[in-house]
Amino acid sequence: MLETPELSDWQPDRNLGLELVRATEAAAIKATPFVGRGDKNAADGAAVDAMRRFLSSVTMNGTVVIGEGEKDDAPWLYNGEQVGNGLGAECDVAVDPIDGTRLTAEGRPGALSVIAVADRGSMYDPSAVFYMDKLVCGPEGVGIVDIRNPIGENIRALARAKGVDVSDIRVAVLDRPRHHQLIADIRAAGAGTELIMDGDVAAGVNAARFDSRVDLAVGIGGTPEGIITACAVKALGGVIQGRLWPKDDEERQKALDAGHDLDAVLDQNTLVRSDNAYFVATGITSSGFIEGVKRHGPYLRAESIVLRSHSGTIRHVVSDMREDRWGV
Ligand code: FBP
Repeated sequence: MLETPELSDWQPDRNLGLELVRATEAAAIKATPFVGRGDKNAADGAAVDAMRRFLSSVTMNGTVVIGEGEKDDAPWLYNGEQVGNGLGAECDVAVDPIDGTRLTAEGRPGALSVIAVADRGSMYDPSAVFYMDKLVCGPEGVGIVDIRNPIGENIRALARAKGVDVSDIRVAVLDRPRHHQLIADIRAAGAGTELIMDGDVAAGVNAARFDSRVDLAVGIGGTPEGIITACAVKALGGVIQGRLWPKDDEERQKALDAGHDLDAVLDQNTLVRSDNAYFVATGITSSGFIEGVKRHGPYLRAESIVLRSHSGTIRHVVSDMREDRWGV
């Protein structure tokens, strides 16, 4: 039986996520006028600018380790940029002001503004290989699924662990030509697919959440997105497994020269070594677990999720902001 600590034994401390959420809210709100307007760069620019401004007020000594790219190409939130007010603990910061820029530009569901933070030096360096083959699921999959096994085997094992029929299992996959065989294999195993156009962070969070209709998220997507998802998985108690997926021989050789083992299975504790991790996301468009920014009378309503690995608490934050103050 679980031991319930007395309230007087608890040592409540600060939850950094509750400050970070203002930055994802700001990015989502500023991206909102660009939803469905066909200009993903303008949407991204507005989100980056807003996120950066709000991050500067957060009490942390952060270094961007996953950002908008190298300093020469990215004026803000570039890798290596110091963020936060410089006080407090040193930490690694991963930002994705918009995961799903195309979804935003086309007005499709699944676009999020995301920040993940963990102790300094604990996030995996994603620079070697841009893509990673990933598998994400919830706590029932711990010790059950293995990315090295055929997808059908993982689906059957997860269905058994969840006590459901294989036909009840739904698997999220990025809709890409590289996944045609994977999609066919999922269906041949008797499970259903949820094909997504973009945004595999939202898909991963959905797969790891306990009350979601998606049970697994699989396939090749960005390595940075994999590390961000790992922060969420650490808080949700699920599984992420990834294997680097070089896109060509040159990238493969570079990764090997840098000492990477391309067969290694990178789990949440390799992708993010610290147990002190935060994941914060605000919906730009709706994602299954949070709605996108919408008008609510004279307010703009932003919905966010704040996850913290220490406590495992899942916070849903709903903020109504005065539209006239935001100039959107
Ligand atoms: P952006 O919004 O940064 O373009 O990323 C969207 C995304 O779908 C990620 O969620 C995913 O990991 C990656 O792109 C997949 O890459 P690709 O579009 O090259 O398959």
